[in-house]
Amino acid sequence: MEYKRITLDYNSLEPYIDNKTLDLHYNAHYKNYTEKLNKYLKEQNYNYKYTPTYLAKNIDILPKENRDEILYNLGGYLNHSLYFYNLTDKKKEIPIKFKELINKYFTSFNNFKEEFINTANELKGSGYTFLVLDKNNNLRIINMSNQDIPYYYGFIPIMTIDVWEHSYYLKYNNKRNDYLTQIFNIIDFDKVYNLYIIATSQ
Ligand SMILES: [Fe+2]
Repeated sequence: MEYKRITLDYNSLEPYIDNKTLDLHYNAHYKNYTEKLNKYLKEQNYNYKYTPTYLAKNIDILPKENRDEILYNLGGYLNHSLYFYNLTDKKKEIPIKFKELINKYFTSFNNFKEEFINTANELKGSGYTFLVLDKNNNLRIINMSNQDIPYYYGFIPIMTIDVWEHSYYLKYNNKRNDYLTQIFNIIDFDKVYNLYIIATSQ
């Protein structure tokens, strides 16, 4: 069974992300990466035996032919899946347990937010900023270029903000910092914390 896009559990993220951007991002960009990934895999008679994350960690199980294209589109698929999953149209409190966890690594939630936004502002060209678990299950904020996948480098991502211009340019133009500040209002930290629990219980 081919890899499918996640289903959004919201119709609109206005006023933080305008509807046109959300529509193009989900229905054009994310769809395109998913379709290309499936197309390249089918050309190799891939049997969809592994999860996409397993494939990202073990890309050398595929023949060399088109491996770069598969990795690139697998990144477009996985990174966007996490980005859209992280977002919510519901006003939510940050879970206390997540705040305690964040305090342990970043002193306070506000410091975490500031460090995340600063890191995203420093990203050159296109890419994503991630909150990840490293090999010792410690939390870290990292940037990845283009469609590079944290799993490929041994990290487990639990939160991301897409910093490609297609994520924000229609509404925010070149004001990346405004987009980053606003999007923090619609990140569902229940989901982020859940991913942390899943990652640390494996
Ligand atoms: Fe994107």
